[in-house]
Amino acid sequence: MNARFGMKRPDAPPILDARYLASGTAVEQLPGPALPEIAFAGRSNVGKSSLLNALIQRRSLAHTSKTPGHTQKINLFEVRVAQARLVFADLPGYGYAARSKEARKSWGPMIERYLLTRPSLRALVLLVDVRRGVEPDDIELVEFWAQTKKPLVLVATKVDKLPKAQHIPALKKLREAAQKGVDARAIGFSAETDLGRAELWDAILTAASLPGQ
Ligand code: GTP
Ligand code: MG
Repeated sequence: MNARFGMKRPDAPPILDARYLASGTAVEQLPGPALPEIAFAGRSNVGKSSLLNALIQRRSLAHTSKTPGHTQKINLFEVRVAQARLVFADLPGYGYAARSKEARKSWGPMIERYLLTRPSLRALVLLVDVRRGVEPDDIELVEFWAQTKKPLVLVATKVDKLPKAQHIPALKKLREAAQKGVDARAIGFSAETDLGRAELWDAILTAASLPGQ
């Protein structure tokens, strides 16, 4: 077989169904862990909800906003593709200074407890704005997640805002900055153009097929 074809990345799977499942501010408020779950985290406004909508091809299933701090709860979505039924968790963003002190203080424990105690959680997708790069809050999360020994997928968002020639150097920089716990995989993504969609789906399905805890 021609090696070039052998190496071709699989296409994104057709989305057979996608629906809102539930939301909560504490892990106890979420439905019991039944399906493999993938969480999406990152700074406020980095593009988590937009990326989810692009992945599942629904324009506004996850609510997006120009105003940072929009998503304040853990929102779960159930997604069905031919290979699997999965749950995607859209997490509230961190690092948003204008949010109330109360909300900022509760973010850490809420997310940390979810990340550590949700048994169905298979992988964390960490989003970083390609123009901002990895920041201290992101590193903190990478280091926190490392204790779970579960896969981390690093995604650079909004790559449509960067000239094409800068994509590869930006991804390389991102990988180097995150280092710890990162399996050398960083994916450039755009919710505007769907760039990186197939690659991210591939990473998610690979992570989801790992045996659960
Ligand atoms: P919070 O819920 O506040 O944590 O934000 P979020 O990370 O969910 O971000 P959201 O998806 O709401 O997007 C924030 C803003 O960035 C919106 O104005 C989006 O339209 C914009 N945005 C998101 N992804 C992209 C992208 O790939 N390209 C461009 N150009 N803009 C994007
Ligand atoms: Mg959001």
